[in-house]
Amino acid sequence: MKILSIFGTRPEAVKMAPLARMLAASPAVEASVCVTGQHRSMLRQVLELFNIEPEHDLDLMQPSQTLNGLGARLLGALDPVLDAVRPDRVLVHGDTTTAMVSAVAAFHRGIPVGHVEAGLRTQDMAQPWPEEMNRRVADAVSDLLFAPTAGAKANLLKENLGGRILVTGNTVIDALDLAVQHIAADARLRDWLDEQLPPPQAGRKLLVVTGHRRENFGAGFQQICAALAALARRADMQIVYPVHLNPNVQAPVLAALSNLPNVQLIEPLDYFLFVRLMQRAHVILSDSGGVQEEAPALGKPVLVMRDVTERPEAVAAGTVRLVGTDAARIEAEVARLYDDERAWAALRVARAGNPYGDGRACERIVAALLGRPLAEFAPQLR
Ligand code: UD1
Ligand code: UDP
Repeated sequence: MKILSIFGTRPEAVKMAPLARMLAASPAVEASVCVTGQHRSMLRQVLELFNIEPEHDLDLMQPSQTLNGLGARLLGALDPVLDAVRPDRVLVHGDTTTAMVSAVAAFHRGIPVGHVEAGLRTQDMAQPWPEEMNRRVADAVSDLLFAPTAGAKANLLKENLGGRILVTGNTVIDALDLAVQHIAADARLRDWLDEQLPPPQAGRKLLVVTGHRRENFGAGFQQICAALAALARRADMQIVYPVHLNPNVQAPVLAALSNLPNVQLIEPLDYFLFVRLMQRAHVILSDSGGVQEEAPALGKPVLVMRDVTERPEAVAAGTVRLVGTDAARIEAEVARLYDDERAWAALRVARAGNPYGDGRACERIVAALLGRPLAEFAPQLR
């Protein structure tokens, strides 16, 4: 069976890397990878770490690319790849422009599509934008829907889509397990990672920050920066923020936070470095999808700078809290976790288990692709 995996951004690469590796190792599969290059350096960081050498690299990223510009370039560039590979199936991941356009490109040619991380929904087309539309389109044109959780499956069932649905867990936990196991097993790697990261500051507890949502550009980012500038005045606060390379993020963040002594603005980190940074965090403040899934698996409290999330499981379990993008609210919610040990511990330990995966999502997906049985994912204590 010829399977072509197509992805293009950092989070897709993190979440597809363990699957691409498993497919490549499967004798029943002729596996190949096409990267669109929607991201450039942030994608390359993941490919190098996981030793993935794509057979096709469309290298499409342009500075400050627009959604339509990127979409149009993608659609044109994918056709020759589909022609050359003639896959029996295409796999896409999640809700990026790469995922949506690649799914449509395969659909246009009658190639079956498997959608990994299917069924996530906020039910609000504006949040996250344009991802809520992207994932709906990818789900609609896919005949195999790999839902990470039972909740995602329930969303898909309500929409009466034609595809077969399988609850697999999220492959991000497979990737995270790999990173955590390497870091735990190798003291030299651990030391090296610690040397690369900003050193801990005495008497200060680490707040790790990431942010990049398009709907937060402009006013949202001004608010986030105002909250961070206010928090930076605390004597017990060390803020480390690997800043996303999108110019709409870089400009306001660098302008507002560059010269504060306990705020360290750094380049996007390699995945292992970022996992190590999360392990060292007291609190994580983020609008990222992947981080919402990883932090609970690491037992870290996450405050999510959004009003709604397509990942309600960790909110229900109590390890994730939505705090919106109002500066005063963000500042107050972070301060509460720093000032009130019990509030912090309650969010950290939360209720049982990891709702997003058991590290076997890739196995389930490969089994389904090959028509072999494997029990669906049921959240369990870890
Ligand atoms: C994209 C995805 C978003 C995903 C996010 C993960 C869409 C519409 N958006 O958003 O769903 O959550 O990736 O990070 O698919 N850039 C670089 N180097 C890089 C990466 C980006 O310079 O390695 C800059 C470029 O100027 C680029 C801009 O960031 O034009 C925007 O990249 P793009 O992929 O269009 O949007 P993201 O905000 O990264
Ligand atoms: N990540 C990383 N380096 C960083 C910040 C994040 O490797 O400096 C990882 C993070 O662990 C997660 C993924 O990138 O697996 C999330 O990507 P992002 O926040 O860009 O996108 P989203 O998940 O919101 O789509």
